[in-house]
Amino acid sequence: MKNPALPPRLDKRDQLLAPRDGMDRLEAALEEIRQREGSGSILQLPIAAKDLDPLLPPQMPRRGLPFGEAWEELLGLALPYARRNAHPGFFGYVCSPGLPTDPWAHALGAALNQNVTSFSSAPGAVAMEKKLISWLAEILRFPQGAGGLLLGGGSSANFTAILTALVRKAGPQILQEGLPGVWSEGPLTLYGTHQAHFSVPRAAVLAGLGRNAFRTVPEDERRRMDPEALEALLAEDRSQGRRPFCVVASAGTTATGAIDPLKDIAEICRRHEIWFHVDGAYGAAACLSDALRPRLAGLDEADSVTFDLHKWAFLAFDASALVLKNPKDARRVFYTSADYVPIPQEPPPEQFAFFHHGPETSRRARALPAVLALLHYGASRLGRNVEHNVLCAEYLAALVLEHPELQLIAAPELSILCFRYRPTEPMEEAAVDRLNELIRQDLQRAGSFYLSETRLENRPVLRVAILSHQTRAEHIEALVHDVVERGRQLAEG
Ligand SMILES: Cc1ncc(COP(=O)(O)O)c(C=O)c1O
Repeated sequence: MKNPALPPRLDKRDQLLAPRDGMDRLEAALEEIRQREGSGSILQLPIAAKDLDPLLPPQMPRRGLPFGEAWEELLGLALPYARRNAHPGFFGYVCSPGLPTDPWAHALGAALNQNVTSFSSAPGAVAMEKKLISWLAEILRFPQGAGGLLLGGGSSANFTAILTALVRKAGPQILQEGLPGVWSEGPLTLYGTHQAHFSVPRAAVLAGLGRNAFRTVPEDERRRMDPEALEALLAEDRSQGRRPFCVVASAGTTATGAIDPLKDIAEICRRHEIWFHVDGAYGAAACLSDALRPRLAGLDEADSVTFDLHKWAFLAFDASALVLKNPKDARRVFYTSADYVPIPQEPPPEQFAFFHHGPETSRRARALPAVLALLHYGASRLGRNVEHNVLCAEYLAALVLEHPELQLIAAPELSILCFRYRPTEPMEEAAVDRLNELIRQDLQRAGSFYLSETRLENRPVLRVAILSHQTRAEHIEALVHDVVERGRQLAEG
């Protein structure tokens, strides 16, 4: 046999080398980002989508540029057209500001480039993620033995929990035969209120159950799940042959931050042998504060909790924890082995794999930024920032209540509240609607505050979600001032 030909040596110019001055450039960019967030407008430069497209080469670049030039091209698109979510006046959606420690942890994570599939692939990162989950389980007051994993977002965490609940109710047969194999025993149904995050009814679609499998439980006047109505709906559904498998309660709804009565719901779920999942994507972080934890009484009775670190634990995207009381339930759903990953059903810790507990296989080291933040700031300091957000929300509610032109629509249970501007002169409701819509748009255009569009009972409201560790009382006062001033101008004009 002929000797195999050696591949020619790679040309030196084709080797992929580290940029020499990368660190200085990164430091300079971080400084610029910090300066922009501390002052000035929240908004990115205004530009149409079609005008952004030509800012990068139309075709994939075939030849490289010196690093400095490539970096500047990247910054030219990334910096001016990024909304400043860490601005102290950013009150839209349910959005974290990101922590000052995050860029370092994310850079380290990228440099190490661990594939956090299993212990054998990334022992350090796996141990870190498991430890982080155990810390979170502890502050949720879950018992020993709880477990879970980090996913890309609360939507994925909710879906993973709901699928786990479905398999527990339907039994292992569903893993082989799918829904057709279990449907003869009755349709499987999922419960939540109209306020549940859209990822909850969508999970019913993704699980193949269809949208109608999501059963809407009536709410009380504070938009919290009504436990008596839940009990009645379960009884009615059972009598019609449906098989309830999961109730999803919210610990802080997206629109108003309402907390469902978790203790009552837990008791109903126990009695009916239904999985109790709490979507605490936003609100579970209140457990970082001993003073706030009582507001989530009953959370520890859940079978599983979604807890997004990239919401109210202030961390940069993406890290959403799903914490399960009995992680074996998820393992029953996701366990897989193949010729190229022969992992036994009861593996020793050295063969632990996250892909046995959730839908992803390749995963980055999502725990790194959270562990660095906890090591550096400590949970108490993060908790005090959460408390400060709540105090800011309560201060805003008090200012709204005492102002004759402002009307509190949804009082804060945590750090989200909704209100409306209403002139003292009588005005038709439709005109008040329009006025509030214009105020919100005007504030946004000015770039000092960002409130995302929200309607309650089909009327526009000024919704304020305070999740920035940079927000202070003066920002709250300035918001009230700006809303009233704009309201008056618009009402006159
Ligand atoms: C209560 C709640 N649950 C779930 C989600 C979905 O989280 P994610 O956007 O991380 O998927 C959100 C998003 O705002 C939310 O507010």
